[in-house]
Amino acid sequence: MAGRKGAALMLVGTRPEIVKMAPLVREFERRGVPFNLVHSGQHHDYEMSGKFFEELELPRPDFKLGIKASTPAGQTGEAMVGVERIARETGPKLVLVQGDTNTTLAGALAAAKSKVPIGHVEAGLRSYDLRMQEEHNRRVVDHLSSYLFAPTRLCKKILLGENVWGKVSVTGNTVIDACIQHAPIAERKSKVLERLRFKRYALATLHRAENVDDPKVLKGLAESMMEAPLPIVMPVHPRTEKRLKEQGLWKKFSTHENVELLPPVGYLDFLALMMGSALILTDSGGVQEEATSPPIRKRVLVLRLSTERPEAVRAGFATVVGTEKGRILEKFDEALRARKGLPASSPFGDGNAAGKIVEILSAQGCL
Ligand code: UD1
Ligand code: UDP
Repeated sequence: MAGRKGAALMLVGTRPEIVKMAPLVREFERRGVPFNLVHSGQHHDYEMSGKFFEELELPRPDFKLGIKASTPAGQTGEAMVGVERIARETGPKLVLVQGDTNTTLAGALAAAKSKVPIGHVEAGLRSYDLRMQEEHNRRVVDHLSSYLFAPTRLCKKILLGENVWGKVSVTGNTVIDACIQHAPIAERKSKVLERLRFKRYALATLHRAENVDDPKVLKGLAESMMEAPLPIVMPVHPRTEKRLKEQGLWKKFSTHENVELLPPVGYLDFLALMMGSALILTDSGGVQEEATSPPIRKRVLVLRLSTERPEAVRAGFATVVGTEKGRILEKFDEALRARKGLPASSPFGDGNAAGKIVEILSAQGCL
């Protein structure tokens, strides 16, 4: 396919990038701004990708890179070569990337080497945990970008403290746009709650490499769920399913009476699951943010040693509980007993991030 000449290139590759880029795609469409949507293929299962295009009513990608590698450098290298080729063919004025995945890094590196300005959506997050690939990726992308869209003032402060080259703007996070736009649709359309074994439950997700690729940590997390004071509903990320099986934990975990495992669910069902839950346990970045959005407003136990989203902690939504069973169960009890109300608004914006981003890019003449 030839693609639209000179149009902005918008790159996605994984589930959260599709969710968080969707409001921008809609905003481009609403204003009649041309773009080429590119999918790297990093996430390729229908449940991790195609289903999100359908539910978020996104146009088909103009280009699919179909990357095959599963190693980090392999994914990055293959996607870089693909983005470089499309940049050569279409001559974009801008490459827009989101977040901190290997696809994001590849898009930014290829754009920089093709001398195309980069817009980074969700700039300035820092976990200060250098075990995390995402921390490498976001740091490199921030320092290559011309336009940095910081979700919060804290992110802007971090970027200015690092003397980034590009122009930094505080816009909020597009995930709040996505939640606000889709929660009413989820309430109308999703039937997932009717199919659950449990009426009152905590929702869990796990996929972070530092957690699920470490057998000891994975075992402790699975035990925490089985011993939790409330039943657990957990849509399972393919990486996590693979690791649970490799570690011989799958059979016991998937048939445990306190746990209901689901395949990865679509966005509407996931929103319904969040809205219906008593509490959320997660190592996901996006889920920490979504839990603070007005339609959801849930307490979150962050199953990690650190978070690059401290705003959710400061606002009272999230508690970083680590990965040790005793502490997780202690904080689980505390969260169920907590009576203090949660704020009415999200620290990650008011749901108009995409509009602000497109406004800034238009004013800069890059669309
Ligand atoms: C990636 C991102 C992570 C993001 C997550 C969102 C990086 C470094 N990591 O992690 O930041 O939070 O996506 O979910 O870019 N798999 C499938 N089918 C799929 C996708 C994955 O089977 O559609 C399995 C494969 O075995 C694959 C493994 O999951 O090797 C890991 O996938 P990968 O995209 O490398 O990393 P994620 O853990 O998904
Ligand atoms: N999500 C979903 N179905 C699921 C799990 C997550 O739709 O089974 C959505 C969730 O609402 C959020 C995004 O996927 O928008 C988060 O993706 P993930 O946790 O995989 O990645 P991260 O945000 O940690 O990068």
